[in-house]
Amino acid sequence: MKTWKIALLGLGTVGSGVMTILHTHATRIEKQAGVKFEVVGVLVRDVKKPRRVKVKRELLTTEIETIWEKNPEIVIDAMGGISPALGYIEQAIERKCHVVSANKEMIAAYGTHLHRLADKNGVSLLYEASVGGGIPILNALSQLLKANRITRVYGILNGTTNYILTKMEEEGLTYQEALEQAQEFGFAEADPTADVEGYDAFNKIQIIANLCFGPDTPVLEQEREGIASITGEEMKVCEKLGYRIKLLASAERTDAGCCLRVVPTLVPYAHPLSGVKNECNGVFITGDVVGDVSFTGKGAGALPTGSAIVEDMLNIVRGWTFTPDKEGLMREDVEQSTGVEKV
Ligand code: NAP
Ligand code: HSE
Repeated sequence: MKTWKIALLGLGTVGSGVMTILHTHATRIEKQAGVKFEVVGVLVRDVKKPRRVKVKRELLTTEIETIWEKNPEIVIDAMGGISPALGYIEQAIERKCHVVSANKEMIAAYGTHLHRLADKNGVSLLYEASVGGGIPILNALSQLLKANRITRVYGILNGTTNYILTKMEEEGLTYQEALEQAQEFGFAEADPTADVEGYDAFNKIQIIANLCFGPDTPVLEQEREGIASITGEEMKVCEKLGYRIKLLASAERTDAGCCLRVVPTLVPYAHPLSGVKNECNGVFITGDVVGDVSFTGKGAGALPTGSAIVEDMLNIVRGWTFTPDKEGLMREDVEQSTGVEKV
């Protein structure tokens, strides 16, 4: 049985989730995939910091060179931020390591560059954990809905803000109290401004758009607004009128390009997204042949995010990578074979 050598960059909420799953699910992984994963090094800022999971002291290091000396085959980015994460991931790819990343900020901004580098070096780059926590949304878009031209994706893509809105509405918590809880549970970003101002959800919808529409599709309109100014009183008024306020992200494709939006939205009680609560996310995908498909599940937290990372590690073993949609290909196929008009 092959043993894959794993390097983990970061041992916070997400890194701890990965370590826990690799420990608790080792037998299942061996039986299902016929492989073992061995963590050979863990990069952190402070090796003396108390950890949520048991890790052998000799695995921890603050030096990236120590990680490379262990010759990992898969590098997991659970650090966050652009610098130094981007440089480390470039080095990993140039060293022919496969990469799994949870880092939406980096993938939204540098995903195209990293895909080119990964292609050049013959390695896989997967980042399911960067969007929707434990929901397999990117794998569905990239591997399972390939017969479809995706025209629209929308939904709740940030767990922290959904948690805050739920707690304000259902338990009467203040915005600040609910945010502090989301931070304690590990849902929020290191700087929660990214969550509450909508930057995190925007990064995620950008990643989805790059994957579904292709990275060269022009962005015709974009809008980003957060939830920081929403009050409990406003939520009560909406409730009386039969609506919940949700921070919705959307990506829509037109013939000329695409529109990306993150905006607080009134969602009627009858819509399934109004029932998506706490740190859960919910995503609706519209494909030109399948119609609407939806996913819901935990969008943040150690184990759901760790689940997405371990799934990607297994997908690497299967030889998968994410490949952005080649615009127009499926549309021509459909038109030629069925005479279906443009939608
Ligand atoms: P976190 O709890 O703050 O953990 C970050 C980890 O990275 C820590 O272990 C930290 O080391 C290490 N680190 C940070 N900068 C470093 C540096 N310059 N050198 C070495 N180590 C460094 O963050 P997290 O919540 O796990 O998030 C990690 C990534 O996953 C982010 O990109 C985030 O957006 C993404 N993500 C998070 C969630 C979630 O639910 N939290 C879900 C999906 C994706 P120390 O422990 O020594 O400080
Ligand atoms: N801060 C993010 C959120 C983590 O709350 O959705 C998951 O990507």
